[in-house]
Amino acid sequence: MYAIAPSILSADFSALGEDVKKVENAGAQYLHIDVMDGDFVPSLSLGMPVIRSIRNKSDMIFDVHLMMSHPEPYIEEFADCGADIITVHAEACRHLHRTLRQIRDCNVKAGVSLNPATPLSVLEYVLDQTDMVLIMSVNPGFGGQSYIESSTNKIWKLREWIKREQLNVDIEVDGGVGLGNARMILDAGANILVAGSAVFNGECTANVKAFLDILND
Ligand code: DX5
Ligand code: ZN
Repeated sequence: MYAIAPSILSADFSALGEDVKKVENAGAQYLHIDVMDGDFVPSLSLGMPVIRSIRNKSDMIFDVHLMMSHPEPYIEEFADCGADIITVHAEACRHLHRTLRQIRDCNVKAGVSLNPATPLSVLEYVLDQTDMVLIMSVNPGFGGQSYIESSTNKIWKLREWIKREQLNVDIEVDGGVGLGNARMILDAGANILVAGSAVFNGECTANVKAFLDILND
């Protein structure tokens, strides 16, 4: 399964419901929702009330990316707001294995994200407890940054590992993904592409369709 996940961080927040509807109607299957706490990353974004209100307007898979230190006390509430996937950062969880179980206990898919400097080896004892690995291809905190080239090799190594272990784990890539590098990232083994500025800067309907053309190629 291949999917495009528009990141609402780059949407027009004054017309968020309309932007969400546009990308959904254009065929996007996932909606990527970035939650920032001003501690794990040097910025703040949005939280539960926003997720709840767009949940009423969309049937997309809500892919909630928690860029938060110690997200554990908030997991149940994010699930209750309508998250379908909750992704936590390996660097932010003292007991990652427990946190993944906590997410799955909410009947939500569990994702683990790795910053660019974090090795794949942190996944060794949790990969079989994980539904999705989110490879950050920029340092998290802001949209509109450039793709870090070493991410491609990381994606490739992770895909080989997942194949070798015969696991069913999605690989999502987030940061600096655009129409120009999407094919290369898919070829490396990713199957879900997050795109913020490449979708919402300009005409988001046409941009989603252009991504879908690449995904279905
Ligand atoms: C960055 C966020 C991303 C961001 C990506 O910290 O996690 O999801 O929206 O933005 P682009 O696609 O513009 O790099
Ligand atoms: Zn993100």
